[in-house]
Amino acid sequence: MKIGLIGGTALEHLSLHQPQRQLVQTPWGEPSGPLVSGWLEGGEVVYLNRHGEHHSIPPHRVNYRANIHALHQQDVEAIVALNAVGGITDAMTPGALVLPHQLIDYSWGRAHTFSDGGGMPVQHVDFTYPYDENLRARVLKVARVAGLELIDGAVHAVVQGPRLETASEVLRMERDGCDIVGMTGMPEAGLARELAIPYVSIGLVVNPAAGKSSRLITLEEIGEVMTAAQPRLLALIRALCADLAD
Ligand code: HPA
Repeated sequence: MKIGLIGGTALEHLSLHQPQRQLVQTPWGEPSGPLVSGWLEGGEVVYLNRHGEHHSIPPHRVNYRANIHALHQQDVEAIVALNAVGGITDAMTPGALVLPHQLIDYSWGRAHTFSDGGGMPVQHVDFTYPYDENLRARVLKVARVAGLELIDGAVHAVVQGPRLETASEVLRMERDGCDIVGMTGMPEAGLARELAIPYVSIGLVVNPAAGKSSRLITLEEIGEVMTAAQPRLLALIRALCADLAD
């Protein structure tokens, strides 16, 4: 199975075997950067960083439509998205890897649908379960077999950014039932559903969300957690690619 891997802050680069960089165009404009196609553990992968090669595109300016369409044009059969997130509920401690099962979209003003004129049919896709349940089950199995801890289920709050939240905003999200908060999970997941591409998100908790620790959030702290977690995140991606190669 050919998989699309969308990296971001949690995974800035991915070394592939026999990598091929391609700059592509889509009917929705240019994706965030080149698509890098190659092989990982025998699995065929197309990697794209949603923030661009040099991390220059903030969450609200990502061309999510072009990114998802570009992966669709490459005939990927599944998308695994990586998201750095803040932890809201107790189990979501820095360094944890999480496989969300639900989301609440608090973002606004983003180009969020392919049903947007230009002759595109109006589609009201079912989004009851925003992440593909079969793919989630497969990721969970892979993590279990590889001995990697992965929290099964979380409600992913998607905010506009790029600023972090106020403590009260985080409390409201907690009352809404959210466990983790990030800035890029939507409209990505919804667009993948519109094109019927199975999609999952793997969250890496990089900080306690605002007001959830006695300290303010610093980039240093986030960087340290991210660096320390890279080997585990990569191990999970490798194991997943090996499994999906079959
Ligand atoms: N809030 C929103 N997005 C994030 C956070 C956060 O605390 N940490 C990493 N991405």
